[in-house]
Amino acid sequence: MCGIIGYTGGGQREATPILLRGLGRLEYRGYDSAGLAIQTDRGVVTRKLAGRVGGLQALVERLPVHGASGIAHTRWATHGAPTARNAHPQVDCHERIALVHNGIIENADALRAALERAGHSFWTDTDSETLVHLIEDAPGDTLEARVIAALEHVVGTYGIAVVWAEEPGKIVVARQGSPVLLGLGDGEYFVASDAAAILDYTRSIVHLDDGDIAVLTPESYHVVDRESHVQLRAVDDVTWDLEEIELNGYAHFMQKEIAEQSETVRSTLRGRLVFDDGTARLDGLNLTPADCAAIRHINIVGCGTSWHAGLVGRHILETLTQIPVTVEYASEYRYRRLVMSPDTLTIAISQSGETADTLEALRAARAARSRVIGLVNVVGSTIARESDGGIYLHAGPEIGVASTKAFTSQIVALALLGLYLGREHGLALAMRQDLACRLAQLPGLVTRALALEPEVRMLAEEFVQSRNALYLGRGVNFPVALEGALKLKEISYIHAEGYPAAEMKHGPIALIDNEMPVVFVAPHDEVYPKVLSNMQEVKARGGRIIAVTTEGRGDVGTLAEHQLRIPETAPLLSPILTVIPLQLLAYHIAVLRGCDVDRPRNLAKSVTVE
Ligand code: AGP
Repeated sequence: MCGIIGYTGGGQREATPILLRGLGRLEYRGYDSAGLAIQTDRGVVTRKLAGRVGGLQALVERLPVHGASGIAHTRWATHGAPTARNAHPQVDCHERIALVHNGIIENADALRAALERAGHSFWTDTDSETLVHLIEDAPGDTLEARVIAALEHVVGTYGIAVVWAEEPGKIVVARQGSPVLLGLGDGEYFVASDAAAILDYTRSIVHLDDGDIAVLTPESYHVVDRESHVQLRAVDDVTWDLEEIELNGYAHFMQKEIAEQSETVRSTLRGRLVFDDGTARLDGLNLTPADCAAIRHINIVGCGTSWHAGLVGRHILETLTQIPVTVEYASEYRYRRLVMSPDTLTIAISQSGETADTLEALRAARAARSRVIGLVNVVGSTIARESDGGIYLHAGPEIGVASTKAFTSQIVALALLGLYLGREHGLALAMRQDLACRLAQLPGLVTRALALEPEVRMLAEEFVQSRNALYLGRGVNFPVALEGALKLKEISYIHAEGYPAAEMKHGPIALIDNEMPVVFVAPHDEVYPKVLSNMQEVKARGGRIIAVTTEGRGDVGTLAEHQLRIPETAPLLSPILTVIPLQLLAYHIAVLRGCDVDRPRNLAKSVTVE
């Protein structure tokens, strides 16, 4: 999952600074190498290197390249090591064509062998380079004709942008499986993997669909399909503003996004609570009361943090609707022989709305005739557009690779969905109204949980040298233990595992010694007494216990070395509060270890490849 960007204008602007600025905004998509290609009066000129966009900026300052159109790329390597040689743009044998690619070419080896037999010599070890040689080989007088002919041979996923020295100012774009959108300006046009890259210049964007080919010139743009039939695509207006994707004085986007959660939870709730009737207004869901009443099974699919939110969602939805809920790793689910009972509602949870495995799981569920709704943060993303209906989180852009505010908003959205479905499945009005009130109190309670930061920072200083950690929870907070462990792993590189607290006795307890930090997620709820016994078992083996408990109730006393007290709320909603000190702990430990919190190694924000 890389970031691609392109610009073509009539000369009113230089392309290089626009591409570099946009690439900086796309860096969360992949950041192991970067490059650009500019159409100059001397042909297509490229600059590329291993490392960050900042390095490319410095390279271009040393070796300036000027022109009114070009393409650029920031990479997350899939095929070929993250080196300067393998960085994009990829060029053909004569360096007349340059291409940037996001996705995976599955038949690259076969294509490469055929192209090498035909006399092409390859510069890199990448799968992407096969595309540019295919275009070089393809028939056609125009770049778009060549791209269309070349793609006939390709199996895989791609979002590509291509330039050709023979047609200065023209950029050809194609989409199959990887997100690409166009930006419309006045006498200038943009292409990008997401809107953040071009918001400095336009708010008018066109999302491309799979199979689309777009042709951009300074004068105009148009979209065609593989038979060159013109395709009409909607022009959307981006509503969020640039400030939302700026650091605004925070050291990291992750820190900013953790701190924003009382506001983002409020934003997910805004205009959706109907107190009198104890339900939720979810207009985008596209589910009538009759549709809701007919649901007999709910299946949730997602990856990573979204899968953890799904596990919390199972507790919430089963409790509020009495409908059986299954939660699936999307990457596993998509390849299973689906046995789908009729009246199954599939919920695809995804912050980015572009995660390839979740998208394919959605398509598999649909093929098995399930109704599909999306719980998505990015407006206009593919999962949002391919779902029958859905709930937008309205949490604003999430830039930090480690997901935080999306998780809490996903749980709020699942609780709203629980209210909406519960009304048609016999949930009593009083219980619905109580939950609606509890939801409305959340933003204030989140603010109080965030106030634990100074205590958490001190804890981080104490555990910064840990090599392992164990996170334990029960019931609706077991997924929070998983999420806490994931946050620590992905940004501090400390090995951590989340487990159901009772499961610990069946193996992981062997890991416990007086160096092992054991984080218990133990709010005061019906399983709290059981969690206390699990704490006893860990304490007896010298484990160093950190307990997240409820203010004013359930003092674990001497059982834990450290207690982090969160405000009380409805047990089903407690994960929204219990996760916050865990997000902060991971953040501060990673900062103290000097890790690149927003760009953790080997990760990327949106996993658009399998
Ligand atoms: C979480 O911090 C990770 N970035 C990752 O696990 C993420 O949750 C997963 O890739 C799913 O992303 P999505 O919600 O955008 O589909």
